Amino acid sequence: MVRKFTTLYRHIIDEERKIPEATGQLSDLLYDIALACKVISLEVNRAGLIDILGLTGEENVQGEAVKKLDDYSNEILMHMMKLGGHTCAVCSEEEENYIPMEEKYFHQEVLNKYILHFDPLDGSSNIDANISIGTIFSIYKRISKNGIATLEDCLQQGYRQVAAGYVVYGSSTIMVYTAGRGVHGFTLDPSVGEFLLSYENMKIPKKSSTYSINEGNYSKWSKGMQNYISYLKEKDKDSGRPYTARYVGSLVADFHRNLLYGGVFIYPEDDKNKNGKLRLMYEANPLSYIIEQAGGRSSNGKERILDIKPGSLHQRTPLFIGSEEDVLLAEKFLSEEVSKNGVDVKKQIEYKK
Ligand code: AHG
Ligand code: MN
Ligand code: MN
Repeated sequence: MVRKFTTLYRHIIDEERKIPEATGQLSDLLYDIALACKVISLEVNRAGLIDILGLTGEENVQGEAVKKLDDYSNEILMHMMKLGGHTCAVCSEEEENYIPMEEKYFHQEVLNKYILHFDPLDGSSNIDANISIGTIFSIYKRISKNGIATLEDCLQQGYRQVAAGYVVYGSSTIMVYTAGRGVHGFTLDPSVGEFLLSYENMKIPKKSSTYSINEGNYSKWSKGMQNYISYLKEKDKDSGRPYTARYVGSLVADFHRNLLYGGVFIYPEDDKNKNGKLRLMYEANPLSYIIEQAGGRSSNGKERILDIKPGSLHQRTPLFIGSEEDVLLAEKFLSEEVSKNGVDVKKQIEYKK
């Protein structure tokens, strides 16, 4: 007997059909992104075999010029957007400015409605170590009515996203996306070359016992931040402490694990990087949209990520994202109220519960 299965494309189309005014353009765009990611996935796997990892401008054993994987991923996605004709602008972590789509690439019958932002290869410091890496993407509708897209089209608040997702290139290739009606995960079956539904309507546990942070930066954090991590490491059976630490240094991989099992990922500001390290448009916004759809929470420690008004494409932000109660607790530790002089942070936390 053949088991029933759902392909990514079927799922996307079925979802879009639920919206009466939908034209199908978003489905096609998501399909183009998935196709680009399949090509990237292939190259990620091939790279290990032919030893081309991270060698920009050098020659491989066949004497061909080879590209760094993040440049390659960027080019594939850009190319696919030109072929597809559904976007009016593309913004990439690897490009300084937004790339407005030239009108010759516009779709014939309907206006190119969408703006795409992506981090073509996240976790790039892990490429050479065969550790999971990924692609993150985020889609908005244009604000301008027609013609060449503007910077204003590209700098919208995260809550205005119409879809977002990521692909993890790991022990298998997985794509997770939301179009505002839940979060769904698909595993690439290499034998048929299709993403097949493997996680329907994903929900993150409300509270976890895992934290993901680069703790090597401890001495650079604020007192509140240091207190929070120290608190998670204390022994207390009733509140499920001490927590477990999990951090590989690829945001997509750390995020994906926390989404499945519960956890809080943190990249805070520190005394050198006042806005943390991660990028609002390419990393924080798409993952925040996904986490909220999955019942989790995301903030910069004070403000909801999706409400932040972006000032520039490469703007950075501190990021606290994951299980709702864990993010809330981090926010309490950071708030002035609990970290002001002489206040016993722990007592305040217990009191505020
Ligand atoms: P990218 O590879 O796209 O530049 O992103 C790297 C990011 C993110 O994936 C990860 O969580 C973080 O950098 C790790 O930073 P640290 O090495 O400072 O921990
Ligand atoms: Mn990244
Ligand atoms: Mn990147």
